[in-house]
Amino acid sequence: MLVEKNVPLQPFNTFHIVAKALALVRIASEADVQAVLDTAEWANSPKFVLGGGSNIVITGDVKPLVLKVEVKGIRLVGETAKAYIVEAGGGEVWHDFVAWTLANGYPGLENMALIPGTVGASPVQNVGAYGVELQDRFESLDAMDLQTGAVFSLNAAQCAFGYRDSVFKHGGSVTTGGQQTLGLKDRALILRVRFTLPKAWKPVLGYADIEKKMAENAVIEPTAQQIFDWVCAIRRAKLPDPAVIGNAGSFFKNPQVSPEQCADIIAREPRVVHYHLADGSIKLAAGWLIDACGWRGKSVGQAGVYEKQALVLVNRGAGVDGGGATGGEVMTLAKAIQTSVYERFGILLEPEPVFV
Ligand code: EPU
Repeated sequence: MLVEKNVPLQPFNTFHIVAKALALVRIASEADVQAVLDTAEWANSPKFVLGGGSNIVITGDVKPLVLKVEVKGIRLVGETAKAYIVEAGGGEVWHDFVAWTLANGYPGLENMALIPGTVGASPVQNVGAYGVELQDRFESLDAMDLQTGAVFSLNAAQCAFGYRDSVFKHGGSVTTGGQQTLGLKDRALILRVRFTLPKAWKPVLGYADIEKKMAENAVIEPTAQQIFDWVCAIRRAKLPDPAVIGNAGSFFKNPQVSPEQCADIIAREPRVVHYHLADGSIKLAAGWLIDACGWRGKSVGQAGVYEKQALVLVNRGAGVDGGGATGGEVMTLAKAIQTSVYERFGILLEPEPVFV
């Protein structure tokens, strides 16, 4: 087992924040995790599981042992009358996996093209875009318990998926399928994820940006490849490419409010962008709220609010060769945004990335 010391983390987090891992082990298989658990030095020490680093804000050198997931492999593992079951290693790049499924004739993930990060991180926050969430295509996953070394599988109910949420984001107890279980935050390493991709594929439409592409291209029944290409084009037009400008995607969740709360906000701000959800509650566009508070394009130090999408915070600094925003600057900016949105609308925005 190779324990690398003082490893620069800037290339491994999409915000490109400068920090070091005091110790890091690359994980290509269960055996690599087991080797860590078999050493007296690391068996019981705190651990941090690193995927694509696209949903974290690093606030200083990382002291827990970093387990960098590099489990590879993509394959068709099963087939039912209704669906193909495709499995990918946790270390596979999410977008490359989506492209592979399309190239091999298993559509269904195209609305989630270009989401940064790895396959293993995708269930943690139940990634989603343009009307499809991971939980809609999820079959099961294999993970390893970082305390006992046991490998276990979870189905969708056991993952307790919510909006950008799952059992992997909680440390205390979590309700899954009406039952209380222990949260798996910092406890599990996701090795492989399986997806169920329906044979009777139907496009998921309805999002304004996609409807616009259909109208522009005079297409009524798009193919999965067309949706994939459009989603890539939409995202490239309004979201910064982390390879060029450091960022962690949407920085805050879209808040859910009651109809009464929404009516109150509409009375004061008739233009507020909102969507009615199936359970009767209403989702507000956090990007709109932040934009309305005048934050678009503003900065604190080298942390800034992206000019084309106020929900995305960016690193205006030097790029991958050092310098740039610190985690502290990002936190200060995030806090200032939360305060002004709270003072104007009475809503506390909840950050989406994890602070490390
Ligand atoms: N808006 C503004 N000003 C802004 C930004 C947005 O007025 O600066 C308005 C837009 O005009 C639009 C509304 O807010 O009417 C919503 O914006 P958008 O369609 O860009 O989507 P979003 O709610 O900001 C969510 C997800 C994205 C996902 C898109 C498309 C969250 C937190 N974000 O963004 O996911 O790609 O919908 O489905 O749910 C991510 O989680 O990292 C992410 C990028």
